[in-house]
Amino acid sequence: MRASVCGLLASPPPGPRGRGCVVYDTARGVVEEVTEEPRGELVAAGEDLLVLPGLVDMHVHLRGLQLSYKEDERSGCRAALRGGLTLVADMPNTSPPASTPEVVAEKLRRLRSLRLEALLYAGVPPSEGLVDDIASMPGVAGFKIYPRDLVERHRVVERILSKPGLLVVVHPELPEAEKSEYEDPSSRAAGRGCHWEAAAVEYIASLSPEARVHITHASCSSTVTLAKRYGFTVDVAPHHLLYTPPRGGGCLYKVNPPLRLPPEPQLLLKQLLDGQVDAIASDHAPHAPGEKEGDPLTCPPGIAWLEAWPRLLLCLLDRLGGPQLLASLASTRPAALLSRRRCLDPGCPATFTVYQRAWTRFDAVRESKARRVPYLGARLCAETRLVVVDGKHLMLG
Ligand code: DOR
Ligand code: ZN
Repeated sequence: MRASVCGLLASPPPGPRGRGCVVYDTARGVVEEVTEEPRGELVAAGEDLLVLPGLVDMHVHLRGLQLSYKEDERSGCRAALRGGLTLVADMPNTSPPASTPEVVAEKLRRLRSLRLEALLYAGVPPSEGLVDDIASMPGVAGFKIYPRDLVERHRVVERILSKPGLLVVVHPELPEAEKSEYEDPSSRAAGRGCHWEAAAVEYIASLSPEARVHITHASCSSTVTLAKRYGFTVDVAPHHLLYTPPRGGGCLYKVNPPLRLPPEPQLLLKQLLDGQVDAIASDHAPHAPGEKEGDPLTCPPGIAWLEAWPRLLLCLLDRLGGPQLLASLASTRPAALLSRRRCLDPGCPATFTVYQRAWTRFDAVRESKARRVPYLGARLCAETRLVVVDGKHLMLG
């Protein structure tokens, strides 16, 4: 069946921009043409609609398994759709960790049952011999390296990094940064400082990787610069762009790596506008409400972002360069890193995010199990109107 969505098309150059309709085949899940007038069934249209290539979050924690009380694949998927996302890549720090073929297979089974596209990074396995087996499992996007893997599993890390073309996502800190003496909220940004990120990037580079190294949630502008110098790709998280450490600390704003003092957020934003940052990725890290009300010294780090972040960033990027900036940093570029396509041209997958421009406030988390978030009451400039994945209409608001 032919269908159309019409509005302001916003894809990065050379894709279509300006008023128009994307016409697609719902059965084949492919864009057929971009026209001035709708063809076939008109699914959504309006002056106030923004049609983006389907948004992507390449760093999320959907949890599940024994951590399902914090979030599970289904609640995370619903939150992602409400946020306008069409593809997420899930992290392996589950319980048990997704670093053996058995747990990876179980996680993949759950992710495959979701309505949006969900990939998995595997954790560093306990032995070198498992690397190839796990890397070849369909749905595995690559591996995730955590600070402690650099010490506890360094031989396996070396094996992973020796694989040409394999996507390897690195949390850029050394295990020493996780010492409890740096946990005091008033001094976390200094104790757990930018030097740990630089040291981790230097260490990875010293292993002469053949893999495609991607540095995730860089919180310091110096980390972005260093990562690019070594030819790595890099993403930044919304919280490192939007927030500085609040006075008095508290658990709501506790994240790893920590929030940074000015001018770091401004410098990261400048690098993002200059094209040095490859993607925005949220590090959606849900925890149970009670956990986020605990003692800041010991409570778990992380902000649950999926329902809100693309629209919060849209408001910011709109003013700085237009919606195609969001399309680039939250769709086409991260999709390419995950070997996926997001675009609005004929032949592209019929996978879009359609927002309706309207000033609202984020009043409550509705889908994620993590209800305690720092952005309650924040102004949003759009509502999610429609999410289309491979021609299927997943959310019609
Ligand atoms: O803030 C964070 N939360 N940073 C991480 O690296 C892990 C994550 C989580 O899993 O909760
Ligand atoms: Zn994470």
